[in-house]
Amino acid sequence: MTLKLVDRLRPACIPVDTQAGPATPLREVRPGLLVKFECDNPGGSHKVRAARFIVRHAIANGNIVPGQTTVIEKTGGNFGFGLAIACHTHGVGVELAVGLGFSAVKRRCLELFGVRLIGLEMLERGATPREVVEWHLLHAEERERSYFYTDQFRNAANVAAHEFETGPEITAQLKAWPQVKKLTFVACAGTGASLVGITKALQSAGYAVAVVLVEPQGCDSRNGIFTDHKLEGMAVGVTPPFLDWSLIDDIRTVSFEEVVETRKVFARTSGFLAGNTAAACLYVANALARGATDDHKILSILYDHGLWYVR
Ligand SMILES: Cc1ncc(COP(=O)(O)O)c(C=O)c1O
Repeated sequence: MTLKLVDRLRPACIPVDTQAGPATPLREVRPGLLVKFECDNPGGSHKVRAARFIVRHAIANGNIVPGQTTVIEKTGGNFGFGLAIACHTHGVGVELAVGLGFSAVKRRCLELFGVRLIGLEMLERGATPREVVEWHLLHAEERERSYFYTDQFRNAANVAAHEFETGPEITAQLKAWPQVKKLTFVACAGTGASLVGITKALQSAGYAVAVVLVEPQGCDSRNGIFTDHKLEGMAVGVTPPFLDWSLIDDIRTVSFEEVVETRKVFARTSGFLAGNTAAACLYVANALARGATDDHKILSILYDHGLWYVR
C-alpha cells in the first residue's frame, strides 16, 4: 500500500535536484564505515527533507494554501524544525504540540524558528500531544484556523523524501567508492520512512543491501514493546508505520551506556558530536566495520547533532 502511495507522490516530488539543498557529506569515518552526515541539513537533521516533501506535496495538491492554511503537528523534535523551515519558505504558519518531556531549549529554539507552541495548559493537565492536535482540529473554526495536519506517521511523502532525495544523494556519492557492490545499512526507525526510503534507493541503484535495525535496549518495535528510553526519535512507542519488515535482516539492541560511550569516542576521534540515535547506530556499525571489505562497506546515518542531548 505504501509503495503505491509513494509512486503516486513521485511526480509531485521530483525533479529532486531543483528541490534539495547542497548534499550532506558522506564520509568514511573509519575504514569500512561510511556515514551520511544528515545533521548538516538546515534544521539539523534528515527530517527537514521529509518536512519539505510533505509541505510541497500538500501545496501542489491544494491541501496547503499559502497565506490561508496553518500547518499543525505533534512533534518535539527534528520534524518540527523541518516544518518551520519548509513552511517559512512558503509563508505558512506552523503550530506544534510539543510533549513536556522535550527539553526547554528545544521548545525555545522551535519558537525562534517561528513555530507557535500550542496546548501547554492541556499538556500540563496530562493531555497527550495527539489529544492537543485533535482538540485544535476540532475547534479550528472557532479559532479561525484552516489547518493542515501533516501527520508524518501516515503521510507517504515522508518515505518519498528519502527514496527520491536522500537515497539518490547517497548513491551518487557512493561513486567515490566504485568497488563497493554490497552495503550493510545500519539504521533506526521512528516512522521507518528514512530506513525504507534509503534502502529502496540503494537497491534500485543495484547495490546488494543487508539492513540492520537498531533498537534501544528493552524495545521491540515489531511487537509493539516499548520502554522509556533516551534515544529521542527511534522506537517512539508505536510500531513504525512505514517499516517494511521484509527489508530487515538483523535487529540489534543498544544500551544507553553504550550510546554515551560511543558518542564520547566518536567526538574525540572524529571531532563530531553525534546525537543519541546516531550514536546507537554507530555502536553497531563500528562493530560490523571490522568485517568490511573493499566491495562490502557499512553505511550508517548521523541523524542529528548531540548537543541537544548533553545533560
Ligand atoms: C534523531 C532522530 N533519529 C532517528 C529518527 C527516525 O527517523 P524516521 O522517522 O525516518 O524513522 C528521527 C525521527 O524523528 C530522529 O529525530
